[in-house]
Amino acid sequence: MKILMVCLGNICRSPLAHGVLQHLVTKKGLTWTVDSAGTGNWHVGDPPDRRSIAIAKRYGIDISRQRAQQFDYSHFYEYDHILVMDRENLRNVLAQAKTDEQRARVQLFLPDNEVPDPYFNDSLFDPVYQLVANRCEELVTEWRKDKQ
Ligand code: 4NP
Repeated sequence: MKILMVCLGNICRSPLAHGVLQHLVTKKGLTWTVDSAGTGNWHVGDPPDRRSIAIAKRYGIDISRQRAQQFDYSHFYEYDHILVMDRENLRNVLAQAKTDEQRARVQLFLPDNEVPDPYFNDSLFDPVYQLVANRCEELVTEWRKDKQ
């Protein structure tokens, strides 16, 4: 199974979701592929925001080697689940889909809720990490159940 986490810049939220899920996948010996992308192109090639690197490190996860990429149409072929952090990301990703099958691969990362953008608010990085970490645990449980 292949999972892509998507936010706006691919430097704050989706790198955390990518790093946490990758950590769980490795720990549990799953063979899933995890990656992340941004709908915007400003940070392509950049490492995650230093505040995301720091909060992940505090919880024992190294995301410093990730590099930002922009979401594009080819990702619909590559990934089974495309999980977006907010409704603006959802609109932007769905606008690029051409078939119902592609649209069906896209969902909000939090069911019916958004992960707040912490870029302009330092105090949001810890709560965002908690939201992301809890949801990644849930997703692993859900997807493993589906496979049984
Ligand atoms: P992210 O946060 O979408 O969680 O990576 C942002 C990163 C950069 C910008 C906005 C949000 N920006 O405007 O550059």
